[in-house]
Amino acid sequence: MSRPAVLLTRRIPSSAVATLEASCDVDRNDGDQLSPTELKARVADKEGIVCLFTDAISADVMDAAPRLKVIANVAVGYNNIDVAAATARGIIVTNTPDVLTEATADLTWALIMDITRRVSEGDRLIRRGAWKGWSFDFMLGSGLSGKTLGIIGFGRIGQAVAARAVPFGLRVIYTDGHAVPGSGAIPLDRLLASADIVSVHCPLTPQTRHLINQAALARMKRSAYLVNTSRGPVLDEAALAWALKNGIISGAALDVYEEEPTVLPDLVTLENVVLTPHLGSATTETRTAMADLAVRNAVAVLTGQSPLTPVS
Ligand code: DGY
Repeated sequence: MSRPAVLLTRRIPSSAVATLEASCDVDRNDGDQLSPTELKARVADKEGIVCLFTDAISADVMDAAPRLKVIANVAVGYNNIDVAAATARGIIVTNTPDVLTEATADLTWALIMDITRRVSEGDRLIRRGAWKGWSFDFMLGSGLSGKTLGIIGFGRIGQAVAARAVPFGLRVIYTDGHAVPGSGAIPLDRLLASADIVSVHCPLTPQTRHLINQAALARMKRSAYLVNTSRGPVLDEAALAWALKNGIISGAALDVYEEEPTVLPDLVTLENVVLTPHLGSATTETRTAMADLAVRNAVAVLTGQSPLTPVS
């Protein structure tokens, strides 16, 4: 019996490749990201795609792959895939929830600690030889105990970030797009006005694109900080640069950007912003678990079983 043909769009850990190769014929791209034209050419004869969130899997790509049965994203976010187009064509889309929750929550906390205690700013200062010695009121940051953490999007990662707030003595408030009345979720405007730290954890959808815009930033406290580890376009970066330059908020820490890997030049020049290069799930353990889950999803569908983590 012939084995299903699968396109693996980027390098992933060898254990996951071995799982895939045990039951499929794998066309591996070990080089740079495939262009849309290359992607369409390589999927033509495939029944499965194992891809990263940097690969745009549009209706066009699906139409170039008439035998396609499964798109297994190695990411929890799946805004890179036209899920409606996939559903209309009977193609199953899967993602990798749960396995990256703790790593992303940890990174969020690294950013919260960094921006409120000016860790990266102090590091930059020492490296440019500008430290003149200890003084009483030098580089004062902002304490966490007794403050309020506002979480936008109370899914798995938002809840894991909230759990870590307890030992720091923070009160947690949250919004939740799917909340039912009485669940404890509050409206976004109230959260923005009350939180000392606002952390964004909602998925990118047409409704959440530029959710944090100039008006939203203007509602925040002048002493507040904004942290984004979700998807870049949820935040209007130009509006954030305006808010940081004009003292509308105190600082921001970003792991994700509107046009990755480009970062708005205005943000790069500011001291009151911490910038990391999309590292939310970037631990060896987590990336291995993500790759394993994605290939198990692909293999399940291609061997006639139910996917482990379909997106809908
Ligand atoms: C995800 O899984 O959505 C991450 O952003 C990729 O690391």
